[in-house]
Amino acid sequence: MSKEDDPHGQEKSYGPLSAFRLAAARTIATVADLPEETVYGLLESPPRPDLGDFAFPCFSLAKTHRKAPPMIAASMVETLNASPFPELITAAQATGPYINISIDHDRFCRAILELVLAQGESYGNLETGKGKAVVIDYSSPNVAKPFGIGHLRSTVIGAALARIHRAAGYEVFGINHLGDWGTQFGKMMVACMRWGKPGENDPDPVKTMFNLYVRFHKEAESDPSLEDEGRAWFKKLEEGDPEAHKYWVLLSDIGRTEFSRIYDRLGIQFEHFTGESFYNDKLTEMVDLIKEKGLLETSQDAQIVNLEKWDMPPALVKKADDSSLYLTRDLAALLYRHRTFQFTKALYVVGMEQTLHFRQLFKVGELLGLDWVEGCEHIPFGLIRFKEGRMSTRHGKIIFLEEVLDRSVDLVQKIIDEKNPELENKEEVAHAIGIGAIVFNDLKHRRLKDVQFDWDEILNFDGKTGPYLQYSHARISSILRRSNETPTALPEKLQLDLPEEKDLVRRLATFSRVIQSAADESEPSYVSTYLLDLAEVFNRYYNLGGKNPANRVLCEDQEIRSSRLCLVLSVKTVLQKGLALLGVKAPEKM
Ligand code: ARG
Repeated sequence: MSKEDDPHGQEKSYGPLSAFRLAAARTIATVADLPEETVYGLLESPPRPDLGDFAFPCFSLAKTHRKAPPMIAASMVETLNASPFPELITAAQATGPYINISIDHDRFCRAILELVLAQGESYGNLETGKGKAVVIDYSSPNVAKPFGIGHLRSTVIGAALARIHRAAGYEVFGINHLGDWGTQFGKMMVACMRWGKPGENDPDPVKTMFNLYVRFHKEAESDPSLEDEGRAWFKKLEEGDPEAHKYWVLLSDIGRTEFSRIYDRLGIQFEHFTGESFYNDKLTEMVDLIKEKGLLETSQDAQIVNLEKWDMPPALVKKADDSSLYLTRDLAALLYRHRTFQFTKALYVVGMEQTLHFRQLFKVGELLGLDWVEGCEHIPFGLIRFKEGRMSTRHGKIIFLEEVLDRSVDLVQKIIDEKNPELENKEEVAHAIGIGAIVFNDLKHRRLKDVQFDWDEILNFDGKTGPYLQYSHARISSILRRSNETPTALPEKLQLDLPEEKDLVRRLATFSRVIQSAADESEPSYVSTYLLDLAEVFNRYYNLGGKNPANRVLCEDQEIRSSRLCLVLSVKTVLQKGLALLGVKAPEKM
């Protein structure tokens, strides 16, 4: 699209819709006596397809025109109808206070499908983030604890946000801020020294670590000196004690190995695997800066920043024994990340229970005069709820993520064995569906909502689930296979006259808009909801063919059939791309 077609620079976020939107804005601007760009920004989507494609609300004109909005709409439509419509526009009608504009549908369908076919998996991508860097801090489990299902959400939401921002044109730095430092490490060391560390040939070192963790907390209840000992060992670690360091290497290696295995299964890669330990040599600079700015105070022998004025408890920067805290390391990370990545946005995908921590972190940054802290945002999310209720790591009640993934794949395997035993690559498909089901379940509602974990619901092929979307995608793949032709270009005359067909094209056209909003609001569920709606319309369309052969994609009429094949291939492309953004694979057969 040239500059001329996009004078307001909005093309990038409206994608293929913008040329039509612009034509509608131009049309209305002439009669409304408003600048084109104002109209462009005010255009809405009508609630029903029969009301046209764009709606312009006349409320804002009431004052200047000294008339009621419905009267303004009626008289402007009269003027519009008095002369021929400009290119791309076919009708104008007044509906109450709105002017509804219809666009040239043949041109519209052609433009959209041509674009999807030409761009393939890059269809929907935007350039709005071009030249901007975004840092996404996500997953970040704690090494001294197993990867429980509690860290699933941050992992899945963060990875989706990384892909969505990339699609919006940003340069993305995904960072795993591994919890590999802190007093918890000192405690694990004490446990290893007392009760034996995981040996070299330990078949399940993670379980061993977890058992040590649980035992430590249990025994510390009756013997609080264990806690002091743990703190002392962490202090030694920070001071570079070789013995402490040896234990640290052992424990963090076990953690990293286990986590990598899980990330592989989920298909996730981080640009940086820099845990809290990474900032150990960067803490002094941060603390000095706080001191320099006159913000550091001593309180009960600890070093703090007083945040009373902002109704927050003090930010603890150094403990009485001079060791660092979670917040100290996050402060150092803040400075380091901005310096290294020059980010416009830094997102912290972390549970809601850390809201205060991030408010304190950003407030201290602000007090230090780091004005770019404005671009930092905590992205919280709701809990995963099981029927069994919440789990507590300390008492040994934890649901291991890996076990959940295994179980999901097993259940799917059983369904396949039962329903489609001849399927090729059964294992690969079971993996794609089993993992995809868990991932999608986590992303289908607004992130702030709690996630209900219910196996029947998650794996329901007819519900609002990952498997349902995968099934819709595989259904299209099967139609394309049966057609024995891969559409590469649109037929001379595109024939898509069924309401479902028009609806599908209209939805395909808004894909980039959805990606944009998902990135702007850090809300992957916009993509999930979009895909569910798209698949729902597609399946309705598909079912028409069951009632009337003339409505089948693979119908007799050659031209209609070609048109429909182009349409369903485009739907398949977008389903696959959308699922990929969420981290869900789309097998060809299932
Ligand atoms: N490891 C922390 C936890 O599990 C999450 C870290 C989040 N990232 C951060 N920069 N604080 O609670």
